Amino acid sequence: MKILVVGSGGREHALCWKIGQSPLVEKLYCAPGNAGTQIIAENVEIESSDIKGLTDFASKEKIDLTVIGPEDPLCMGIVDEFEQKELKIFGPSKKAAELEGSKIFAKQFMERHKIPTPKAMVAESPKDAKKILSSDEFSFPLVVKADGLAAGKGAIICLDQEKAEETVNAMMVEKKFGEAGSRILIEEYLAGKEASFIVITDGTRILPLVTTMDHKPAYDGNKGPNTGGMGAISPSPFIDQELFTEIIEKVIQTTITRMLEEGRKFRGVLYAGLMLTEEGPQVLEFNCRFGDPETQPQVLRMKSDLVETLLAAIEGDILEKPIQWSNKPSGCVILASGGYPGKYEKGKLIKGLDRESKITGVTIFHAGTSLENEQFYTNGGRVLGVCATENSLSETMDKIYQAISEIEFENMYFRHDIGAQKMEG
Ligand code: AMP
Ligand code: GLY
Repeated sequence: MKILVVGSGGREHALCWKIGQSPLVEKLYCAPGNAGTQIIAENVEIESSDIKGLTDFASKEKIDLTVIGPEDPLCMGIVDEFEQKELKIFGPSKKAAELEGSKIFAKQFMERHKIPTPKAMVAESPKDAKKILSSDEFSFPLVVKADGLAAGKGAIICLDQEKAEETVNAMMVEKKFGEAGSRILIEEYLAGKEASFIVITDGTRILPLVTTMDHKPAYDGNKGPNTGGMGAISPSPFIDQELFTEIIEKVIQTTITRMLEEGRKFRGVLYAGLMLTEEGPQVLEFNCRFGDPETQPQVLRMKSDLVETLLAAIEGDILEKPIQWSNKPSGCVILASGGYPGKYEKGKLIKGLDRESKITGVTIFHAGTSLENEQFYTNGGRVLGVCATENSLSETMDKIYQAISEIEFENMYFRHDIGAQKMEG
């Protein structure tokens, strides 16, 4: 088979790495890819939001299966485009992807179907927002969320009125996130442990992936601004069998069934970003794609052929190709460019990075990297994901941090406490 993976992050390198191991694959492309995918696949210079370019490429090259990494092309309707041309593609349709594409749609959907989620109100204008903020509907802290896609940066926790007003202004008046912030949600803040609960679905049946825990804030101790994720471990230390079943029943199965009933059959990856609270799991957001960096520790634990599972999801019965998992835990720590998630510089030489990791058992997935004259350079905010899987979480994390000590680039930063919450108990 000829397979095309779309995207350029660590998630896409991890997907290429896993898909490339399938005996079904003869040729693997990645568009646009990064220096890591360039080594194991053929990079194609087409941006992931260029739906026409990707459709033309897949038609011309007779691609047998396209797998989409990021949300943008899914929310723009790439799956509908491919299907019109009878090209096989893994991911939800535009109507289904609205679960991620509009936080207001997702919130109203959850409220309609009694899926546990924090209370929120919609503001259509700065005046609406002001009215909500000056009522006694919410106490501080609260969360202000842009309705549309904002690269994981559109949810701002506001500790007081001043910050909330400033955030509303930045989103709705200054248009910091463009049209994505023209409508917003004002949401109750929840305390608890976060978990990423990710499943593959054929539209009716679900196949849960191993659980993971992401670490969103930029700095140690969960300080600093939210990022796309600075590291992840699998399994989530906070989801036991009972909670797992509760999440499947109350959140995942309800969502899949109700989406089908509403004429929005959801086929692909459904990712519920959860807050585990004393009152039970609550959905903070849905994503319609694999997680980044959650995919990196997940593929390290995946023993069976991912391509077979993706094909089964498209062809109609996902339960025919269940995934075999390793029982060992895994982890991933992101090395980022100083300044990320804000402004950062690119083009820094990465020292100590070879084509293959020198440390046995360590896998390094590239995100924002480029390759010139056999040297790797930084080319994004999240640069590398250093990953391992060992017998215990502490051995896994020791191995990862040992590997990180060999790598260096100007202004590199990373969190030193990925997985530490669990080890603290
Ligand atoms: P979202 O894009 O909605 O997932 O939000 C990004 C991040 O903001 C989440 O992973 C949480 O860390 C935080 N967050 C979002 N909503 C809430 C909430 N209601 N209470 C507490 N933290 C939240
Ligand atoms: N790691 C968070 C996400 O993939 O949205």
